[in-house]
Amino acid sequence: MKPLRMALTKGRLEKDTVALLERIGCDCQAVHNKGRRLILPVGDSLELVLAKAADVITYVEHGVCDLGVVGKDTIMENGSSFYEVLDLGFGRCRFALAAPAGADFWSGYSARTIATKYPNVARSYFESKGMDVRIIKIEGSVELAPLLGLSDAIVDIVETGTTLKENGLAVISEICPISARLIVNTASLKLRKREIEALVEQMERETAGKREAGGNA
Ligand code: PRP
Repeated sequence: MKPLRMALTKGRLEKDTVALLERIGCDCQAVHNKGRRLILPVGDSLELVLAKAADVITYVEHGVCDLGVVGKDTIMENGSSFYEVLDLGFGRCRFALAAPAGADFWSGYSARTIATKYPNVARSYFESKGMDVRIIKIEGSVELAPLLGLSDAIVDIVETGTTLKENGLAVISEICPISARLIVNTASLKLRKREIEALVEQMERETAGKREAGGNA
């Protein structure tokens, strides 16, 4: 039987995911010595594919990876033609609306401009408030946009709040909590049900304490 393939978001979620896999008994030696390799064996039954967050979703949706680990932020922005089976309890942060500290974002009638890496999330947030805004997509360091005078505010992920603070910005409104999720391709869940359920159960048991301690984001 070929190994199950799991796409893993490179960077912030990588370390916590590998630590979790090791706690459930997976041999992650190849990941620790990965060099520039992008597909790594984890024992005989699992293979890890290191990818950018949005690509994790693409690979799982198309079925070339059976499972994926990705932030809820990426799921909210990029759709969900897959099963989201588990809140892994790490990678905790939140979506927030932020603006220059002291600015009165809500008053006045002119349409506001919002910069964000997450235009879909921003659009649905302002739709839910019945507010008409102009949204500008920025690829990274969105905090720059209000500082440069491009936008009135940003919708972004906030973890420690340090980036906002050090750039004179402040949260105006919390939008929703975020954490890492385990996702599964819909066909894989049927075709390889037993193996996937066994893996999900182990991961669920191992993360239960964390989820309960941190609330269920
Ligand atoms: C994210 C986010 C903020 C920062 C928040 O960016 O877009 O800039 O982290 O973290 P903090 O609240 O702990 O300061 P990331 O580091 O992923 O880089 P990017 O902006 O280049 O996408």
